[in-house]
Amino acid sequence: MTENNRQMISVALPKGRLGDQVYEMLAKAGYECPEIKSDTRKLIFVNESVGIRYFEVKPTDVVKYVERGAADVGIAGKDILLEYQSPVYELLDLGIGRCRMCVAAPKGWHEDQERTLRVATKFMNIAKNHFDQKGREIDMIKLHGSIELAPIVGLSDCIVDIVETGSTLRENNLEVVEEIVPISARLIANKSSFQFKTREIEAMRDALAAQI
Ligand code: PRP
Repeated sequence: MTENNRQMISVALPKGRLGDQVYEMLAKAGYECPEIKSDTRKLIFVNESVGIRYFEVKPTDVVKYVERGAADVGIAGKDILLEYQSPVYELLDLGIGRCRMCVAAPKGWHEDQERTLRVATKFMNIAKNHFDQKGREIDMIKLHGSIELAPIVGLSDCIVDIVETGSTLRENNLEVVEEIVPISARLIANKSSFQFKTREIEAMRDALAAQI
């Protein structure tokens, strides 16, 4: 409990550029914790006077902390939520971190419908669901980064990946073949935290919503 009888909220904050943007929104919404900006290797930052505790985690790990209740809320990209299908509440689209999940391939590529399509991606479930819906048989190749390289060197026919500015595709002579889904950052909550800390979590959601 804080001074105002409010319960503390733990927030899983994604490290990196998106996390910096999200923290600025949270700070403006009344959840400041200046220590977070200091040059430190610390991973937990607390400001008891406003009832907040931040954990700095890898963006792909945010859902794990929230799903298992180690953090009450978190900020995760819609790509991660779709990929992991986590049983968490999605409370708000923050309208930042906007990009698109796309199928992309070398410029001028023509799909051979007679052959199994080789797809390189980090997003196995998103890719599988997308091609399942089309009834298209695929051979999926799981990679962890530099996905755009795969079709250039013949490891795959196409990729399923995030396109933000489009420069990675352009600079590698690839193009979007199909857009799968628009992506942006979402405020998510652990289901039981939301029951036990409804007032605090809704106050955070509303304060963030007011900044969009
Ligand atoms: C992401 C994504 C694309 C790139 C898209 O990669 O996988 O490669 O950003 O951004 P753009 O459209 O603005 O060029 P990230 O930087 O996370 O690196 P990695 O996937 O290669 O590790």
